[in-house]
Amino acid sequence: MAFALPPLPYGHHELEPYVSADTLRFHYDRHHAGYVSNLNRLVAGTQWEGAGLDEVVVGAEGPIFNNAAQIWNHTFYWHSMSPDGGGTPSGPLGAAIVEAFGSIGGFRQRFADASVGLFGSGWTWLVADEGGLEIVQTANADLPLRHGRRALLVVDVWEHAYYLDYQNARATYVEAFLDHLVNWEFAARNFAVG
Ligand code: FE2
Repeated sequence: MAFALPPLPYGHHELEPYVSADTLRFHYDRHHAGYVSNLNRLVAGTQWEGAGLDEVVVGAEGPIFNNAAQIWNHTFYWHSMSPDGGGTPSGPLGAAIVEAFGSIGGFRQRFADASVGLFGSGWTWLVADEGGLEIVQTANADLPLRHGRRALLVVDVWEHAYYLDYQNARATYVEAFLDHLVNWEFAARNFAVG
């Protein structure tokens, strides 16, 4: 069974004005879809043909890992945003964030700083471990699952995520993500399964 491009959980226009339909047409229809077609081509005739995506992400190396991880990361990123996003986390997740970062504002500042301060291409994650919550940066295609860690939320800080809408103003994109797009319900569901 070939790897498939998971559906975008909203229409191309629904994140406007914070992420444009043009960005989603490139980012989802070309970049994300491209990782899927690359992976299907690369795994043909290898031990990874027919494997599950998580299995490939944990075990593969080189271009097979990179393309599989980018499929995983982008699917998780689409769900980390919502047309009804923004606001503040509540319930057990909200309490865990306050415990880990002092306040919701403290989390926001540290997540934004980590995203803006990440050199080159990568991702900023909120992860949950036994000891609590942590903000983690990964480079290129790397992701928490590869290191046995559980992701709750992610923002894509590759330039292709924001350049059409914000040019080089990564900080403005990350602010828009935190203020208007972040899907706390998705993060809370990921937190609850731990
Ligand atoms: Fe991306």
